[in-house]
Amino acid sequence: MGSQSIVFFILRYMRYLGCKDLLVDDIVSLIQERCEMSESTVFFDAFCGTGAVAVAMSSYCRVVINDILKCCTTYTKGRLCNPSRIAKKLGINPFEILNNPKGKRKGFFATTYSPYCDRMYFSKENAERIEFCRHEIEKWKKKLSENEYSYLLACLLDSVSDVSNTAGVYGAFLKKWDRRALKPFVFRKLDCLTNETASVAGCHNHHTEDNIKNVECDILYLDPPYTQNQYGTQYHLLETLVENDCPSVSKITGSRPVTPYRSKWSRDIDVHVAFEKTIAETKAKYIILSYSNDGFMTPEFIKDVMCRYGKEESFLQKELGYKKYTNKKSKRDETHKEYLFFIEKKINSDVVVDAPLNYTGSKAGLVQKLKKFIPPKEKVSLCVDLFGGGFNFGVNMPYQRIVYNDINDRVVALIRMFYENDCSALIKKIKATIKKYGIEKGNRYSYLKLRELYKINPSPLILYVLILYGFQQQIRFNGKKEFNNPPGNRWFNESLLSRCISFCRTMKNNRVDFLSNSYETVLQTLGAGSFVYADPPYTGTLGVYNDGKRGFYGWTSKSDALLLDSLDAASQRGAKFMLSYVDDGSAFIVDWAKKNNYHLIHLDSNQGKYNRRKELIVVNYENETIG
Ligand SMILES: C[S@@+](CC[C@H](N)C(=O)[O-])C[C@H]1O[C@@H](n2cnc3c(N)ncnc32)[C@H](O)[C@@H]1O
Repeated sequence: MGSQSIVFFILRYMRYLGCKDLLVDDIVSLIQERCEMSESTVFFDAFCGTGAVAVAMSSYCRVVINDILKCCTTYTKGRLCNPSRIAKKLGINPFEILNNPKGKRKGFFATTYSPYCDRMYFSKENAERIEFCRHEIEKWKKKLSENEYSYLLACLLDSVSDVSNTAGVYGAFLKKWDRRALKPFVFRKLDCLTNETASVAGCHNHHTEDNIKNVECDILYLDPPYTQNQYGTQYHLLETLVENDCPSVSKITGSRPVTPYRSKWSRDIDVHVAFEKTIAETKAKYIILSYSNDGFMTPEFIKDVMCRYGKEESFLQKELGYKKYTNKKSKRDETHKEYLFFIEKKINSDVVVDAPLNYTGSKAGLVQKLKKFIPPKEKVSLCVDLFGGGFNFGVNMPYQRIVYNDINDRVVALIRMFYENDCSALIKKIKATIKKYGIEKGNRYSYLKLRELYKINPSPLILYVLILYGFQQQIRFNGKKEFNNPPGNRWFNESLLSRCISFCRTMKNNRVDFLSNSYETVLQTLGAGSFVYADPPYTGTLGVYNDGKRGFYGWTSKSDALLLDSLDAASQRGAKFMLSYVDDGSAFIVDWAKKNNYHLIHLDSNQGKYNRRKELIVVNYENETIG
């Protein structure tokens, strides 16, 4: 790597926003330190831009590239091509032909991007020269491999940026001619580092988040945009040059339609949702992200998402030295910081999604253990989360059809809101509601005003905001179904945002139906093929929902007895059940399990910092773990 990386600083490549040429050493070193690699390893550069990282990694493994812009994947393919056979295949030296000053063509390109139509991206002469080169390269396409054709186009893209009358990007042209733009156009050879074997093993032009689950890869590198700058707008002209089409263009800048290139990664909230989806759905074992402290996503949010899907001990956040990403030309604000984030992914069955609620008695900390004892997927056609609460159990189940049930219809509406709304739209609405009503940590007045409003407008959106800013984020109602939690000291922080997004997306992977019935009514409907999880309120514990003021029902020992009878009846009809209960030595549970030959399993108590209660489960079936 050493000698090769020195060459990177000498070589000159197209100017490109966010290009990683100066950081490539750090990125490759991190990958070498942390990832097991062999020649068959597939490295996926999902936002390849000019391909700086893909090219460096091509010395070690197979490379797959992606970018929404074709000019980027073409340029990267060009950098990864060995061009030595091009002249022989064409029977001519293309550089001689393309550097003939008489080679000119006045078509769409020349007349659209030069003073022929009052735009000043190029002088008339240079625009005609560029159009000529593009035309000739197209004529040679059939005789060349895809990579060789891309190499010539990459040379053209590089050469064009030498004479463009812009400030580096093509969002607009300069109003006066820059000296550089008046120099004659030269078709320059692209510096090429690759050996005989390096080439691109796969090339895509998708929005990464839409296609990530289809890309077979071992190492995923993400270098997304981090500001609102849309690359499609900034590089429309290069895209048109590569596409070689004649699009309808906008009046002033002459831009092709950029809607297909509009990136979610350049929009607040949309980027959070796209990032979470990408991390969750990639098949890669290792993920490396380049990001900056000027981006929409905070390091806290990034860490929260990456640690949900990655092994926590493998997580790394590394700040890169300021000098590494600045050079004399690109002096930057000293508060700007560039980071690398790394994670090794968990296996899918180890991933647990937490509800974005602090539900009393929540099973969030236990789900990982409970998952070991659930019946196999093939044996369950319907899974019922009977006392659904925060839905921590149901959302983590692998079954295709899930029923969420809770007696509290306000909570049912809340969970349903996460299922039925588009995630970005919902988070924007939550944030807008917080803003509209001036809700903030410590502002009692606004909170109480919103709580009053909830009495006349019991919308789940308002309820969620009240929960977020309420005392310990508890869900409390009085006998009149009025939300009665006082204001608290918490807020919609980055961890809740990340949980909200994961919860919202994961729920939609399965079909979920919602019920608000009493448990015995639901149990009466269950028989063979169904698996019910029952996590009732515990008579002896202090659940807020069990204080008799919940506005629905309290929970007594009679309720316990009726639950056990109803489970027996469902079991006799062929339903499978798992009952969670506090492991307090209650004789009635032990006796009941023994009498019916059910399995009683004591779980380790460690559910996290705040919940050290011992738990047990009773199940009426067997699986690999239970025996
Ligand atoms: C920071 S640049 C990448 C720079 C690159 N690593 C390099 O060294 O040149 C981000 C790239 O992401 C692309 N992009 C933006 N949104 C995208 C999306 N949703 N999917 C794939 N590519 C996207 C842009 O076209 C741009 O080329």
